[in-house]
Amino acid sequence: MRVDILTLFPGMFAEVFRHGIVRRAREADLLRIEVHGLTRWTSGRFQLADDAPYGGGPGMVMRVEPLVAGVEAIRGLDPAPPRVALLSPRGRPLDQGLVSELAAEPRLLLVAGRYEGVDERFLDLSGAEEISVGDYVLSGGEIPAMVLVDAVARLLPGAVGDSESVVRESFSDGLLEHAHYTRPAEFRGARVPPVLLSGDHAAVRRFRREQSVALTRERRPDLYAAWVRSGPGSRDSSFQETTP
Ligand SMILES: C[S@@+](CC[C@H](N)C(=O)[O-])C[C@H]1O[C@@H](n2cnc3c(N)ncnc32)[C@H](O)[C@@H]1O
Repeated sequence: MRVDILTLFPGMFAEVFRHGIVRRAREADLLRIEVHGLTRWTSGRFQLADDAPYGGGPGMVMRVEPLVAGVEAIRGLDPAPPRVALLSPRGRPLDQGLVSELAAEPRLLLVAGRYEGVDERFLDLSGAEEISVGDYVLSGGEIPAMVLVDAVARLLPGAVGDSESVVRESFSDGLLEHAHYTRPAEFRGARVPPVLLSGDHAAVRRFRREQSVALTRERRPDLYAAWVRSGPGSRDSSFQETTP
């Protein structure tokens, strides 16, 4: 997969993409990331990256010309047409379903906004969709773009050493993940649940599943209700859940 990122702050990305699974995916040529500074498409007195909003109001708005010019130039850098997304608090929420969808794309072009946001015409002219990383406002789209790339990289086949861990983690089956423990078996009187030391794999699976369901029910009733609605076909028949 190729990911292009268009940003006013290209220097923010290098360190983040130099570690962990993203690094491994890049080294294994599963993921190519190219970061492009928007100022490359701004020049001269009337080609600033931002300007005051029409109609008045606080802050500045990112201008449409450099954004469109940047997206058009970056599109042409590879024959694969990219799925273009503007990171935006009013966008489609990034959840594990959308992450899987994005991970199946050959190419993404992510645009990071700044200031009060971007000139609305950019969306129509570029065909960009909007993606949000949560119901809060950050000062720029760079960290959301990093979040998206990190989540997508984990799903690229071969990027995570033990592919089971991706299949089993939170949200992959609509539930939050169970708790984890490692040595020692007891620390300051706090013991690891005995079933995990029993060697009974079926019992361990059942225990973890029950814990996943209980945690989801307690902490995320929205996810729990969706999981219950998803029907018994997608659930472990060994566990009887109750409706909230
Ligand atoms: C200060 S924010 C603009 C917020 C905008 N005025 C609003 O109220 O929706 C600047 C940029 O940060 C990025 N951003 C902020 N919060 C985000 C979020 N939750 N998800 C994705 N991008 C976000 C977007 O690219 C946005 O254009």
